Amino acid sequence: MKFFIDTANLADIREANELGILDGVTTNPTLMAKENIKGEAAIANHYKTICEIVDGDISAEVLSVEFATIVEEGKKLAAIHPNIVVKVPMIKEGIKAIKWFTDNGIKTNCTLVFSAGQAILAAKAGATYVSPFIGRIDDSGWDGVQLIAQISNIYNIQGFETEILAASIRNGNHIIACAEAGADVCTCPLSSILALLKHPLTDLGLKQFLADAEKMKGTV
Ligand code: E4P
Repeated sequence: MKFFIDTANLADIREANELGILDGVTTNPTLMAKENIKGEAAIANHYKTICEIVDGDISAEVLSVEFATIVEEGKKLAAIHPNIVVKVPMIKEGIKAIKWFTDNGIKTNCTLVFSAGQAILAAKAGATYVSPFIGRIDDSGWDGVQLIAQISNIYNIQGFETEILAASIRNGNHIIACAEAGADVCTCPLSSILALLKHPLTDLGLKQFLADAEKMKGTV
């Protein structure tokens, strides 16, 4: 399973990248606005900087909802760097645009996916990635991980090549459950990636080993 970081914050992206296990980055308008990125030039510059930090697929979301403007915007985003993946919302015009991008060799990430039917449409249009939002599904009283398992089963049976990118991850347990359910990628906030490191027995064991290491060195 690939690990993407789900942020537009450059410090978090650098910290995750330094772990050596990062395969890409996802952003969305909310995450970009949080970093106060405004205007076409600043947006393009920010994506370029992210591409220079991380050697992997970088999702940049379109802000339009009509076919012609999604395509126009997506072409500009894709021209920023070869690793840019154009992120397109799961709407009728978005599906048409994803098909256009597929036919023209531009990678896509179909976002705001909440059902197996939507995931089938994204795959039929040739999306590189489909992004089910598992945290938001859980928040609304349904089971996000179950949707990952269902899409994984359908894609396997049908031979769809679209990669399942589990999004809206809230914690380390989500990452483990998505790995078990067949996600190809998990996009996570830095806190959820770092949560995977943690176990109290690791902390206790290391404390003891460090104390015994001092004995071995003859310092105590
Ligand atoms: C990533 O591609 C999604 O935009 C993101 O994971 C949504 O996460 P949220 O539900 O925490 O906003």
